[in-house]
Amino acid sequence: MTLPKRTQVAIIGAGPAGLLLGQLLHKAGIDAVILELRSAEYVLGRIRAGVVETGTVGLLEQVGCAERLHREGLVHEGIEISFGGARHRINFQQLVGRSVIVYGQTEITRDLMEARADCGGTTIYEAEDVVLHDVTSTRPYVTFRQAGMAHRLDCDFIAGCDGSHGVSRKSIPADVQQVFERTYPFGWLGILVDKPPVSEELIYANHERGFALCSMRSHTRSRLYIQCALDDKVEDWSDARFYDELCRRLDATAVARLEQGASIEKSIAPLRSFVAEPMRYGQLFLAGDAAHIVPPTGAKGLNLAASDVHYLSRALIEFYDEKSRAGIDAYSATALARVWKAVRFSWWMTSMLHHFPNSSGFEQRIQRTELDYLVGSEHALRSLAENYVGLPY
Ligand code: APR
Ligand code: PHB
Repeated sequence: MTLPKRTQVAIIGAGPAGLLLGQLLHKAGIDAVILELRSAEYVLGRIRAGVVETGTVGLLEQVGCAERLHREGLVHEGIEISFGGARHRINFQQLVGRSVIVYGQTEITRDLMEARADCGGTTIYEAEDVVLHDVTSTRPYVTFRQAGMAHRLDCDFIAGCDGSHGVSRKSIPADVQQVFERTYPFGWLGILVDKPPVSEELIYANHERGFALCSMRSHTRSRLYIQCALDDKVEDWSDARFYDELCRRLDATAVARLEQGASIEKSIAPLRSFVAEPMRYGQLFLAGDAAHIVPPTGAKGLNLAASDVHYLSRALIEFYDEKSRAGIDAYSATALARVWKAVRFSWWMTSMLHHFPNSSGFEQRIQRTELDYLVGSEHALRSLAENYVGLPY
């Protein structure tokens, strides 16, 4: 394949942010080239959460990538919060008139990849040593190596959609950037198992032994998590030990319905809140995990990537169609306003649901009171609901 030497927007990263941005720009007739470090197979091998907000569904519909999501996705009108041995349903549809769709992030990535291939969009996989150049000039460019050959891609703008370990955020000088971070004193041990879900909807469990989450990928495939220590290793946790601990944290009804099976994937992920400001430097714009990380408790990672690229695509379209820089100049502040609200919600859900190893008696009482107040107040429930289904763009 002859690689392009110029494009309007160079997108770094073919995860959900990069792929969705590519399709939103394509729909508007704006040329973009995606440079992805890994192979397509590698990207599709990642197991990621799959709770899709209504806003994200709308964007996927805009680019014609929601057909399988509507066919195979599971519409969830609520979740359950479990603590003190009892479960409390939070009915999003009744509280805020909206729902979410449970559909694996991997499937969204697959749908976007296929759409990009179908429309002839250029994605260069296994692009190594990507370096951003002259990002504060009017003629930025990117260099990279692919199949042992050196390449240069000239562009008008660069979209850094290369995740938390990418090159884009690192291309912004430290004295320009402000970083805000909180790490949590625990991780999530998760398994994927081909057994029916414990319940029709997700169960988020607070327990003195630690948090647990019963999620799913379909009616026949479950995704189960338990909070674990930061120094735990996957090899420390046999399936039997995992299920034994999970059962100690769930209510009796859930335990009775849990079908134990051999895990087909098992991994531990740390929890972190992270925001880098600004999300723009010259002609470089950050979107998705490249700019922020949220703990998975609020299921916001994918959905924040989507709202970032909604704002960024709208700004770039305004630039090319109306020759206005207003949108791109406002992008960082606009995106961050929504990012911080999702960061707050994810922090609040994490603080309310997890056992903090060194928490004082006072902090434990406050946590229990937070839960009691939540399930006893329609206003509190409505607040959780509007954040979980997704705040407006
Ligand atoms: N050059 C090119 N590509 C890179 C580089 C690099 N230097 N570094 C990373 N990448 C690629 C990664 O291989 C990955 O495919 O950028 C992509 C970033 O994708 P994600 O990490 O999925 O980030 P994003 O698209 O923002 O999606 C956020 O993914 O990590 C989850 O929980 C997160 O659900 C959220 C979603
Ligand atoms: C998942 O299904 O992996 C999942 C669901 C909801 C969350 C986190 C993870 O909050």
